[in-house]
Amino acid sequence: MFARDTYVTRREVLQSQFDGGLLLFLGNSDSPMNYADNPYHFRQDSTFLYYFGLDQADLAAIIDVDAGTTTIFGDELSIDYIVWMGDLPTIASRAESVGATDTKPRAALAEILGRAVSAGRAVHFLPPYRAETKLQLMELLVISPEDAGTEASTQMIRAVVNQRNYKTDEEVAEIEKAVATSVSMHEAAIRMARPEMKEMEISAEVERIAMAAGGSVAFPVIATINGQTLHNHFHGNTISEGDLFLLDTGAQTASGYAGDLTTTFPVSSHFSEEQKAVYEIMLSAYDAAVSSLAPGVSNRDVHFTACRVIFDGMKGLGIMKGDTEEALAAGAHAIVMPHGIGHMMGMDVHDMENLGEAYVGYAGDERSTQFGLKSLRLTRPLEPGFVLTIEPGIYFIPQLIDVWAEEKALGEFIDYDELNKWRDFGGVRNEEDYLITSDGAMRLGPRKPQTVDELEALRQS
Ligand code: GLY
Ligand code: MN
Ligand code: MN
Repeated sequence: MFARDTYVTRREVLQSQFDGGLLLFLGNSDSPMNYADNPYHFRQDSTFLYYFGLDQADLAAIIDVDAGTTTIFGDELSIDYIVWMGDLPTIASRAESVGATDTKPRAALAEILGRAVSAGRAVHFLPPYRAETKLQLMELLVISPEDAGTEASTQMIRAVVNQRNYKTDEEVAEIEKAVATSVSMHEAAIRMARPEMKEMEISAEVERIAMAAGGSVAFPVIATINGQTLHNHFHGNTISEGDLFLLDTGAQTASGYAGDLTTTFPVSSHFSEEQKAVYEIMLSAYDAAVSSLAPGVSNRDVHFTACRVIFDGMKGLGIMKGDTEEALAAGAHAIVMPHGIGHMMGMDVHDMENLGEAYVGYAGDERSTQFGLKSLRLTRPLEPGFVLTIEPGIYFIPQLIDVWAEEKALGEFIDYDELNKWRDFGGVRNEEDYLITSDGAMRLGPRKPQTVDELEALRQS
């Protein structure tokens, strides 16, 4: 949690974007795994954390723009709750710690919102992503769960995005802590992996390190010998000599800020010649993308900078052919790089994805429908204060190769006979996190081992 003034100032900035009305924030509740008393680990809503800093369940808040008040809504703990779960400071002292002017019991929320609606006052709220929140909106504002997303306030979405997209020094320091822990998770995994281990032994160790640092993982761990499956959450395979191991994991600090790194390393002590060839193309694409980061540069161009290196590298291997610019425009490279170069990162690993990438990463740019490019989460020109990931990859996805080969799709750019020889290769990716500065970009956290030499040295240690 930051100092009181951080939250007061954040709310003042937000409030100044509105002429009147109420801004409603619904914090998260506990979410049951299999029965009510057995919940998932609690995660507060990130926007609630950003403006109010209170990391406990069942809170809500209203900023009354006309009256200039901030009210925290919540109920004091019952003696039964205290007996089973322990005590917490009163709602009043929690509210005071973040500079909120008033507190009220939770039941007052319905009455206050009802009065505002009857008086024709605007009630702004953000799109809900949990069923419980949709049900609360239905009860409080008589909005059906299906309509809760479209009824959300675009003015509030834009105002929140326009604040949270620009990270302050104290936020950057938190993200650097998250990345430092994330680097430790990756180094431990690179050192420990041995043939005959299960993927889950490695995923368990990286989760342990994230939790021992006081937080948790920021998203489900990807720890796999099948790196060609982009968000692979299965950890049941046994790893063997000759495999490539892809680890995509990051820690989240106790205050909720994320890190997001990917490393690909050989299970054997060395990369094979083929693995090295593909890995080095991918790493050159990574380096080119990083070198292109600067304020004013469109992240679409950063994406294509990486894709160009990948396409030319695939040409060098005889897998692709033809004019590079024409191939990139047609999307031929996407058969081996079907995702975007990166995304905003902050309190959410894909920052504010719940508010809509149209606002966070596109800001008015039109989203492509082309395979590959449609998965780019961020195209807008980069600005100082943005924190984003750079994460190119090269993947040989047998099912995708078969679908495209069947149609001879973009056959002028792809040699399917050659491509098919690589169908069992798997996938490689490298990912680190960057802050856009006034004149370029700065890697966040310590440098992660990533060159062939660095990785092979760790595999032999
Ligand atoms: N961990 C998912 C991603 O890198 O976007
Ligand atoms: Mn990642
Ligand atoms: Mn990422």
